[in-house]
Amino acid sequence: MPLPSRLSAVSTGLLNACFAVLLLFSTSVAHGQDDKALYGTGEKVFKQNCASCHKPTEKMTGPPIKGAKEKWASTGGDIYAWVKNSQAYLKANPGDQHAHDLLKEYGGSVMTPNAISDEEIDAVLYYADNFVGKAKAPEAAGGATAEAEGSDNQTSWQWLIIVVLLLLIVVLSLSGVKNQLQNALNEREGKPPVPVRSVWGNIWHWAVTHRSWALIFGFLFVCWLMVLQWDYLWNIGVYGGEEVPHYKPEQPIAFNHSLHAGKMAINCQYCHSGAEKSKHAGIPSASICMNCHKAVSEGTTTGTAEIAKIYAATGWDPATQKYSGTETPIKWVKVHNLPDHVYFSHEQHVAVGKIECQKCHGPVDTKFTVAEQWSPLTMGWCIECHNETAVSQMASGAQPNGYYEEIHRRLTETDMGRSELRKYLEDEKITVRELGGWECAKCHY
Ligand code: HEC
Ligand code: HEC
Ligand code: HEC
Ligand code: HEC
Ligand code: HEC
Ligand code: HEC
Repeated sequence: MPLPSRLSAVSTGLLNACFAVLLLFSTSVAHGQDDKALYGTGEKVFKQNCASCHKPTEKMTGPPIKGAKEKWASTGGDIYAWVKNSQAYLKANPGDQHAHDLLKEYGGSVMTPNAISDEEIDAVLYYADNFVGKAKAPEAAGGATAEAEGSDNQTSWQWLIIVVLLLLIVVLSLSGVKNQLQNALNEREGKPPVPVRSVWGNIWHWAVTHRSWALIFGFLFVCWLMVLQWDYLWNIGVYGGEEVPHYKPEQPIAFNHSLHAGKMAINCQYCHSGAEKSKHAGIPSASICMNCHKAVSEGTTTGTAEIAKIYAATGWDPATQKYSGTETPIKWVKVHNLPDHVYFSHEQHVAVGKIECQKCHGPVDTKFTVAEQWSPLTMGWCIECHNETAVSQMASGAQPNGYYEEIHRRLTETDMGRSELRKYLEDEKITVRELGGWECAKCHY
């Protein structure tokens, strides 16, 4: 076999080997992502349905979930039935000693029924069993852990890119060596030298002479781009929920929403009274706090320290029960900030659209200790909701509202009901978009 072709056989062999390594590598990455996906789903379901009472590895209102699957398997209990509805499970299985022990220890049947599938339970249990100590990180580090997770994903991509680059270098330098040897040979045989090519020329030449490999690499590259694109879109979609870090600045007073709006069930609008009648929901003045805190000077978790700040702000002296007359307004840090060029009105959404605060602000009354920006407030967020939300009108009728009954009547009964308008009613609902909620000028000054 002449030297060049032997060399090219060697280089093809090398290339094959590298490619095999690459394939192995990428399947192992994909496999890791399977587990990661299950873990991620588990984490999401856990946070949505279980985290109010459970921690994976520590006691809270309920027991730690880690290891529960094994425990239940060893006592012969049906953990799926339990998670779905523990009360029903207890009724059906009065003899399950472990379940009864749990009840005794945790105060008895406080676990609420969960509308959850077996797959979701599997994911939660997988998440808990493989939990990697994130609960230990302090609250404030929530953002950092989410970032760490993201970068974990990125590193595997970076590795893939590095491997591909290394491969390219190997291929290019091999072809360089080959050309030199070929030149030496050509010189001896009196043939013209192999033309010198640039790097890109080399790549192109390689691609032309190795069409099937080039196709495979091209295909992988396109796949990679598609995955990136998908990730990007997906990340835009995953607003809200708990997987994205939220902006939650520290506030001058540790005011606790879930205590006031949840446990004490104070209506949001008692404090944010503008929400129904103006553009701004408004932040309550300290005098609203004083309606109660004149009498309540101590809290369960912060004692008198935080409530004393309300007194300082209003100039209230709890000893003499009198105001001194000097007020220093509390400097709450603004959490939500839409850019100036956007028009948003609470009244339109709360009073007319009848949208619950929680739809946009998240589980303020059940989860928030510190106010946070739950939704992304991007244009995509506004528009997506306008596209899918039906305004309350007769046909969908959840909350009938005279204004839309009138629109509905006109669309169906009068000249206004031209066919192109009537089509809006075909799906039995009129969305905000169909009423103009996508027009630039509605939201932009
Ligand atoms: C409202 C609070 C609450 C919620 C929400 C809740 N649990 Fe529980 N869970 C408990 C309590 C309390 C117990 C202990 C038994 C009892 O008192 O009912 C328990 C027990 C368990 C056990 C048995 C643990 C062991 O050591 O055997 C499992 C498993 C479990 N929960 C899973 C879940 C899962 C999964 C979710 C979410 C889908 C969930 N729980 C949601 C309160 C809750
Ligand atoms: C007892 C009074 C009180 C009640 C009740 C209350 N809030 Fe608040 N809220 C405040 C105060 C004070 C702030 C400013 C301090 C802070 O951000 O924690 C605030 C801040 C907020 C913010 C962030 C505002 C910003 O700066 O962008 C939102 C959103 C919010 N509340 C929503 C709600 C919702 C929704 C409810 C009902 C579930 C509710 N609040 C109930 C007093 C209250
Ligand atoms: C409708 C009555 C009411 C209003 C209005 C109210 N609070 Fe409270 N607040 C309470 C009660 C009752 C407690 C004690 C609850 C507990 O800790 O068990 C409390 C507790 C607190 C605590 C201590 C929490 C803890 O766990 O230590 C702080 C801080 C506080 N409130 C701040 C505020 C601020 C700031 C406002 C005004 C924006 C306000 N509250 C408005 C009733 C009210
Ligand atoms: C359709 C989504 C949506 C709904 C529903 C909604 N908000 Fe808001 N909220 C926003 C947006 C967007 C901002 C930011 C506004 C800005 O920066 O001008 C905001 C800001 C706020 C603020 C900060 C200060 C202010 O006055 O704007 C408070 C407080 C607030 N909302 C409370 C509430 C309460 C309470 C409710 C329910 C009665 C509610 N929101 C319902 C989207 C919503
Ligand atoms: C959770 C769903 C939801 C989100 C998020 C939302 N909107 Fe809306 N919006 C509605 C609904 C529903 C209406 C229709 C209210 C009505 O007229 O019945 C509406 C109406 C409006 C209108 C009046 C449209 C018209 O035709 O008159 C404007 C302006 C508006 N929204 C701006 C915004 C902006 C800006 C944002 C983002 C910062 C936003 N909305 C986010 C649900 C939403
Ligand atoms: C439902 C409300 C809504 C509608 C309709 C809407 N926008 Fe927006 N737009 C927003 C919000 C909210 C932002 C601010 C987003 C942010 O800060 O991330 C924004 C931001 C923008 C920006 C600035 C981007 C930047 O980086 O600051 C441009 C440009 C823009 N919109 C153009 C348009 C055009 C053109 C239309 C009509 C085709 C339109 N918008 C319709 C809500 C809307």
